[in-house]
Amino acid sequence: MTQKLIAIVGLVWGDEGKGKIVDELITDNSIVVRANGGGNAGHQVHVEKNGQLEKRTTHVSPSGLMHNAAIAIGPQVAFDPIQFLKELEDARTDIGYDNRVLISERVGVLLPYHIALDTFEEMGAGSIGSTNSGIGPFYRDNANRKTRITFRDFVSDHFPERLREVLQLKERELKDAGILHRGYEEELLAAHETARKELAQFAVRLEYRLKDHMERGGDVLVEGAQASGLDVDLGTIPYTTSSHLTAPHLLASLELPRGAFKILGVEKIYPTRVGKGPMPTYDSEFDAQVVPNAGEVGAKTGRRRRAGYPDWVFVRRSARMNDCDGIVITRADNVQDMDLRVCIAYDVPGEGRTEEVPSDLEG
Ligand code: IMP
Ligand code: MG
Repeated sequence: MTQKLIAIVGLVWGDEGKGKIVDELITDNSIVVRANGGGNAGHQVHVEKNGQLEKRTTHVSPSGLMHNAAIAIGPQVAFDPIQFLKELEDARTDIGYDNRVLISERVGVLLPYHIALDTFEEMGAGSIGSTNSGIGPFYRDNANRKTRITFRDFVSDHFPERLREVLQLKERELKDAGILHRGYEEELLAAHETARKELAQFAVRLEYRLKDHMERGGDVLVEGAQASGLDVDLGTIPYTTSSHLTAPHLLASLELPRGAFKILGVEKIYPTRVGKGPMPTYDSEFDAQVVPNAGEVGAKTGRRRRAGYPDWVFVRRSARMNDCDGIVITRADNVQDMDLRVCIAYDVPGEGRTEEVPSDLEG
């Protein structure tokens, strides 16, 4: 059997069924790696239970958790340890997780104040329709460096001091948002005691463990979250998430060699979008026909998704951006008997017809 080294990424605004493709490719000899984003994602897979298919959703863990494969968390992830432990524990009713979890020591830890800040900021001006999972405030802290608490810090004895330091640095911000109060630090410590204890065993130098696994002939599947249209630099600014989402970037963040990997871009035949932001091929009639039948609701927030016609302008750009070796088209069954109009160029006011995606995309 040939070794599978594959990165799976979304090409437009997410929810294309990347988990399903990982599901098809996974082997017992796989490590399935999450490399970006955090609890904003929703990986939905079905597991067989007493002869019936049951739906399972993970947010921080890759969908590989539901298989007898190893799972890993890369350094660019917004790692929410409480949510992650909950997902491991929930999975335990289906399948155990001992000895098959790898967490990069470098990954930043997302804490409850990130979620509270996200929620607070989204209530104010400039809301971007975030999932309120703490993503924006988390990556801000990561980029700031001084306020990044790594997983190594988190599981070490010096976590209480490190937390105190960071809370001091963030004092004004947390006070302004009404988050900081007497006893807050102790509450945070108590809330994370179990996660620190349970997860400490999984801290590794992930870059070396992935390299070793590859050299032994093991399979590595990189499971992207979100999709290129939401990339912090390359997406529909400002309606994006806060991490880098393209496959070459994910591989680089894991110190994995691009040349050894196949990159698969996944696109639902009709793009959908949840949250705010432009969608050039949105069509209200098409949307009304597709969304209710296809059950298009956000896996994280339960918000209704918007649907549009196939947008090859966007897909073509994403395929290049991700350096795709192949494209997987999903959910054609949902539009089987419908006439699909396909967008092959944009009409940009003041510019005319173009096959380029403008940086200030509207529509
Ligand atoms: P945030 O990453 O939670 O701040 O959300 C920013 C934008 O990205 C919002 O429009 C979200 O709806 C969207 N988004 C974030 N994660 C996902 C995802 O996994 N699937 C689809 N949309 C997402
Ligand atoms: Mg999703």
